[in-house]
Amino acid sequence: MKLEEAIHTRRTHKVFGSEPVARELLDELFELARWAPNHHVTNPWRFRVLGPRSLAALKEAAGPDAARKLDRAPTLVAVTQVRDEDPVQDEDDLCAVACAAYIVLLAAHGRGLVGYWRSPGVLRTQAGRDACDIGAGERFVGLLHLGSARQPAKVKERAPVQSFTTYLD
Ligand SMILES: Cc1cc2nc3c(=O)[nH]c(=O)nc-3n(C[C@H](O)[C@H](O)[C@H](O)COP(=O)(O)O)c2cc1C
Repeated sequence: MKLEEAIHTRRTHKVFGSEPVARELLDELFELARWAPNHHVTNPWRFRVLGPRSLAALKEAAGPDAARKLDRAPTLVAVTQVRDEDPVQDEDDLCAVACAAYIVLLAAHGRGLVGYWRSPGVLRTQAGRDACDIGAGERFVGLLHLGSARQPAKVKERAPVQSFTTYLD
């Protein structure tokens, strides 16, 4: 798939097939993600692929209602940023991790998978962080849902380029 087509056609999916994404394929996605732009090349991203123990602990932390949503995708990846004591580097690192997370979604799409970047409240709680072994020195960035598509995704209209672009003198 061409890059432009991939950017245009990647969509958030919320209904997935049950087949987990193979570890080899996940490794390919993370291999690409590490080439995200990154000021001072601090490699601030951490990817944790949830297994049965961590998923069960996360669902327990989430409570019954929120737990159901954690069963939507067969493969969940918790993305975090290693915090930096310098606030400027810390901000740059957060942006770099967001780029890396997007690479994972885009590369998954390029391989015929679908994805969903979620920021569930449970991962902002200590119990949720503990379930995913996220230490105090990391910031939660997103819980990527990956798998195969079960139905077409909804396409939301986007603002036109002119509405957010200014060419300064
Ligand atoms: C940082 C970030 C956090 C997000 N968190 C959520 C979320 O918690 N729940 C949700 O439904 N979608 C979440 N999304 C997905 C967006 O809602 C989605 O990208 C948006 O609706 C545009 O759709 P598209 O991805 O198909 O272009 C998040 C996206 C980003 C970048």
